[in-house]
Amino acid sequence: MAPTVLITGATGFIGSRVALEVLQAGYRARLSIRRPEQAEKLRRIFSRHLSNIDFVVVSDITVTGCFDEAIQDVQYVIHVASPLPDRNSDLLIPAMQGTTSILESACKNPSIKKVVVTSSISSFMPLAGQPHGTVITEDTGVPYDAKQGISPLLDPMVQYRASKVASYQAIIDFVQQRNPPFDLTTFHPSWVYGRNPVQEPHDDPSGSCGALVLTLLSSAKPINGQFLGVHVDDVAAAHKEVSEFVRQQYPSVAWKLIPEDWMNYAVDSSRAEKELGLKFKSMEDQVRDTVDQQLEFGKLPVQSVL
Ligand SMILES: NC(=O)c1ccc[n+]([C@@H]2O[C@H](COP(=O)([O-])OP(=O)(O)OC[C@H]3O[C@@H](n4cnc5c(N)ncnc54)[C@H](OP(=O)(O)O)[C@@H]3O)[C@@H](O)[C@H]2O)c1
Repeated sequence: MAPTVLITGATGFIGSRVALEVLQAGYRARLSIRRPEQAEKLRRIFSRHLSNIDFVVVSDITVTGCFDEAIQDVQYVIHVASPLPDRNSDLLIPAMQGTTSILESACKNPSIKKVVVTSSISSFMPLAGQPHGTVITEDTGVPYDAKQGISPLLDPMVQYRASKVASYQAIIDFVQQRNPPFDLTTFHPSWVYGRNPVQEPHDDPSGSCGALVLTLLSSAKPINGQFLGVHVDDVAAAHKEVSEFVRQQYPSVAWKLIPEDWMNYAVDSSRAEKELGLKFKSMEDQVRDTVDQQLEFGKLPVQSVL
């Protein structure tokens, strides 16, 4: 029988795309969801692969041992679930504790060969920002003591970034203290764009895709502070490059964003390209897929073009 991959976060943008990739590669996928009713939509989205899917309900990923049962008969784990910026929910505990609880459960199951955790470029970025021109690599370290906690008064984006730093540190600490018997890989994507398998036509675009579309539509220029700190620099840098492209490609959409020539940091992704054999899709592909989906769903205001 094909190996089974336990995947968290499949109800979300990246996790659903990851699950599809895993299923298309011929693996079995066990999808961890928070509520039983979430399975219905996923069954529809993954209808071609139903014989290779099963579901487990883990209602609270912060509870130690919550994945013990879910991880039985599993060989690989991909942990994607983690909260995105949201003013109404705690980001730190699910990000940190959700990660350590799945690692704890994986340690109890000798059949686990590899665990992959979706982290973020944010886990390499100091909350106060980094010197202009910094090039971030996998070796960029960020001091942050998660025991300080995060004030609920902080902007949700700063809380998010802190949660990604803290959860990555929790992984490093876990590896040092527990020396787990499986391989452990972390991925650190920057903003992720493209088609969202779980977005329905009536849903507004959310998360990173929503941020891209909203900024293109509603900002006259990249505003420092829109997302606060270094993340707004990332958005600004990305949009600087994409705005000219979307104008040419989609002249009927009423884009507002005007390119600006500033960038605060760069990312060196050469290791991922070398070690994983990846050839990253272009900015044009990322934006085209994000925008095309919103056009198909009628989410973009159009204007007449002479
Ligand atoms: N999008 C990006 O640009 C980007 C960039 C870098 C890293 N990442 C990382 O990639 C991961 C997924 O991001 P995404 O864009 O796919 O976000 P998303 O669409 O909002 O999906 C988030 C997923 O995490 C689950 N989740 C959220 N809070 C949870 C909690 N407290 N307990 C259990 N599950 C929870 C959600 O489950 P429910 O459906 O039940 O809420 C959903 O499955 C996150 O770790 C994020 O930090 C994203």
